[in-house]
Amino acid sequence: MTNEWEFKRHRRLRSSSAMRSLVRENHLKMDDFIYPLFIIEGENIKHEVPSMPGVYQISLDHVKAEMEELQSLGIKAVMLFGVPNEKDEQGTGAFIESGIVQQATRLIKQEIPEMLVVADTCLCEYTSHGHCGVIHHHDVDNDESLKLLAKTAVSQAEAGADIIAPSNMMDGFVKVIRQALDEAGFHNIPIMSYAVKYASAFFGPFRDAADSTPQFGDRKTYQMDPSNRLEALREAETDIEEGADFLIVKPALSFLDIVRDVRNNSNAPVVAYNVSGEYAMVKAAALNGWIDEKELVLEKLTSMKRAGADLIISYFAKDVAKWLQE
Ligand code: PBG
Ligand code: ZN
Repeated sequence: MTNEWEFKRHRRLRSSSAMRSLVRENHLKMDDFIYPLFIIEGENIKHEVPSMPGVYQISLDHVKAEMEELQSLGIKAVMLFGVPNEKDEQGTGAFIESGIVQQATRLIKQEIPEMLVVADTCLCEYTSHGHCGVIHHHDVDNDESLKLLAKTAVSQAEAGADIIAPSNMMDGFVKVIRQALDEAGFHNIPIMSYAVKYASAFFGPFRDAADSTPQFGDRKTYQMDPSNRLEALREAETDIEEGADFLIVKPALSFLDIVRDVRNNSNAPVVAYNVSGEYAMVKAAALNGWIDEKELVLEKLTSMKRAGADLIISYFAKDVAKWLQE
């Protein structure tokens, strides 16, 4: 049979599963995942977050078993969020030695030292008003908040955190935190900055999980406007200048163009945060039998890699580990 037409035959490279894997450009591997965990004060608590099936708030006594499970799945890094019993105007629970994240960090580093602990550095889980900084005249005061965020970062490093991940979106936060860490002797602790964080409706389920919904107003004076693209590059550039070692783009799914832009404009590792709302939507559809969860999740996480993400923070990390082992 002769080839009657002159055209490129792209299907040649799709002819079998083996052929397709030979030419596959992007891959998921467990080395690249960070699994978020909600640690709640109290005892013997393992409470499923209603809007996030499969995600739990766990108390300290469940942490060791959780780490062992993660290790057996090949997950090497966790990101910690605290759910404290008490909140106040300043978010004191974020930076005290007995804070819930500090306790969890010490426990993990003692029990499973190889597990990398990434500490989310913010105040919103600890403030009575639910904002990411301190309030003056009904708005978040940037520079006053920086002092508390720096204290939080240092206390997390003192507890043994391997990476500090500030998520508050105050101006100058990377600079001030880097300086505070250095002054406290933590020159070798990297900063994974939430450089590009949008004021997004995709955070809804997280705020249930972390009990961090603002009690008045919203986060639009500090988190970015989802309409903007160039602003993301300004944020990323500033954070690199101020000493960030990693750049997070968040949320991921509807901001993959931004992931690509940040990747193209910087040589630092780029981290996509596959946030709570992205998780909840998939789980809800899957529970209704409306989508093929495994295929869909692997597709969307791979698309984050294709967009340029080096790392992915995802509530799906355990599911992915199981699927990759199949
Ligand atoms: C706190 C913080 C938030 C998330 C991570 N850190 C929520 C927010 O800014 O309201 C969102 C994570 C998610 O939705 O999965 N600053
Ligand atoms: Zn916050």
